[in-house]
Amino acid sequence: MRLEHHLDIHLNETRQFLPPVEFSSTAKIDAESYAQLQKEAQENPVAFWEKAARNLVWKKPWKTGLIWNAPKAQWFAEGKLNVTESCLDRHLATDRRHKNAIVWEGEDGEIQKITYEELHRQVCQLASVLVNKGIRVGDTVAIYMPLVPEAVVAMLACARVGAIHSVIFGGFSAESIKDRVNDAGCSLIITADGGYRKGQIVSLKKNIDKALQEQACPTVHTVLVYRRTNSDVEMTPGRDVWWQEAVQNLEKQDLLFDAVSVDSEHPLFILYTSGTTGKPKGIVHTSGGYLTQVAATTSWVFDLKEDDIYWCTADVGWITGHSYVVYGPLACGATVFLYEGAPLHPAPDRFWEMIEKHKISILYTAPTAIRTFMRLGDAHVKKHDLSSLRLLGTVGEPINPEAWMWYREIVGGSRCPIVDTWWQTETGAMMIAPVPGAVITKPGSATRPLPGIQMDVVDGNGQSCGTKMGGYLVARHPWPSMARGIWKDEDRFQETYWSQMPGLYFAGDGARIDEDGNFWIMGRIDDVVNISGHRIGTMEVESALVSHPLVAEAAVVARPDEITGQAIVAFVTLKENIAFDGNLEKKLMQTVTQQIGSFAKPAAIRFTDSLPKTRSGKIMRRLLRELATKGKITGDTTTLEDFSALVALQQEEAL
Ligand code: WTA
Repeated sequence: MRLEHHLDIHLNETRQFLPPVEFSSTAKIDAESYAQLQKEAQENPVAFWEKAARNLVWKKPWKTGLIWNAPKAQWFAEGKLNVTESCLDRHLATDRRHKNAIVWEGEDGEIQKITYEELHRQVCQLASVLVNKGIRVGDTVAIYMPLVPEAVVAMLACARVGAIHSVIFGGFSAESIKDRVNDAGCSLIITADGGYRKGQIVSLKKNIDKALQEQACPTVHTVLVYRRTNSDVEMTPGRDVWWQEAVQNLEKQDLLFDAVSVDSEHPLFILYTSGTTGKPKGIVHTSGGYLTQVAATTSWVFDLKEDDIYWCTADVGWITGHSYVVYGPLACGATVFLYEGAPLHPAPDRFWEMIEKHKISILYTAPTAIRTFMRLGDAHVKKHDLSSLRLLGTVGEPINPEAWMWYREIVGGSRCPIVDTWWQTETGAMMIAPVPGAVITKPGSATRPLPGIQMDVVDGNGQSCGTKMGGYLVARHPWPSMARGIWKDEDRFQETYWSQMPGLYFAGDGARIDEDGNFWIMGRIDDVVNISGHRIGTMEVESALVSHPLVAEAAVVARPDEITGQAIVAFVTLKENIAFDGNLEKKLMQTVTQQIGSFAKPAAIRFTDSLPKTRSGKIMRRLLRELATKGKITGDTTTLEDFSALVALQQEEAL
């Protein structure tokens, strides 16, 4: 385990912050009600979550709170609902009907405000279009969209007809789209002609065309294209349809669409995420349990109130976007702010300018963004009146205490509590996070498990580590928004998460618990790299590199990076008798961009004659990691088969 580096940092952190009195005196949950929630949850976690589930709209009540047959959970079994009724319809009967559900700003500065009534109307219409195109309950639909309100409409429209959406982040390449569409067997793709990023048009539809070339995705019969940029795109007759035209052509009776009731355990979406081996895993989330926990945690951790303007900066292509841009906030009737483009475009103060303009009160972003802003200097932030902010959140990777302090002081004016939230694609919703009006925070710690969640840190035998040492982060009890499986791969689900320590969910992270019961997350302990909060399997990058005709072998490791948290360093050997070509590095970068996406590009590629291996032929990534991080090897090399590879690499490093 590679826990040592982080342990040092955390052991020296002694600062702590009480919830500000001004905040906790008006908070939905104060210290007293938090203690009560914890008590109820401990006494009976299932009854506790059943109470939370009653905050949703159900078409038919459930019979059993939890049926647990590890690793298979059924939450609110036999209950029926449609998540869009909780996210939309119920608000129409209240004053929220005319409240903004979405305030959107395009990268070019265009602003759109969409009320709950209007969002409901758009979702109903797109749901009708989907049904007209033959989409039925249980069908899978891929969504490959820029961050425009229609991305949210697309997700909700799928949910409304009972179809399962698979959102593919707009940064993924055609190759990655193809793999995901085929794995999920999607029959329809929703995309746009393009989106804006850094002043350029990202040609989403072109990537879809490339992915579908030569019948590469035989299950797809329809591509629905939202016109966003008016850029030139080719429309394949019989397959491609303009979104706007399809909506315009709807019959009058199709303008409203009654939500299709589905089982609590009906899959709501698949979201692909990187693992340690092979291709990305399609993590499956279901309806009742997922919405229960995302709605409850949105309300508790963001202390969400009626007049908040809430901004989670994640793209809907990641789990954070699913749970805390779309489903959680809309179930709570929030006003969600959405921004289409790049954070520093056209100027480094774009974020702060928008916070001032839209009077954003809750900001939820990633440590990478915070570190980037920190490096750009305080002036960009201080230029703007950020007094509307009252709460700040972070997610996606460990936040270093200095970035936490900067966020607190410079962005939050030392008055806003910070909620550092730990969770994963697989957990669906937050698991460890402070409830801001009640919990004392420490810079760099996600604090403690939320009510109803039982986390622990254990050694290799599944024994609790206590507060003395670091170990593996696990969950001891099932939770409502837990992944129900990996799409079409039951065995891999069991093996990856449930077989390391019998009866416990193994998250893949290292952690330590301090004397006050605070959890300090130390990052992944497997071969998953976390770059700017994006999970990338080292295996995926290795396979991309090896697919290049000149490459014999590749080993990919992570090294710490001040801004992105981690960065990829690739060690590559070339096939015999290949003359080294100066452009090769660039070409290999292109290969990774083509096969995965540019966000997975290595920070450095090192060419070597051979890779250090054990006698059994396993690449010793541990040594390469050390080399990439420290520039030299100090660890144990006794199992190394051939020392010369390492010697050469070290010598090169010393030059
Ligand atoms: C890491 C993102 C430290 C962790 C929601 C986890 C964190 C992985 C935190 C999941 C945090 C997420 N502190 N580390 N607050 N939040 N992580 O699936 O390593 O994209 O396993 O979900 O990100 O990444 P994923």
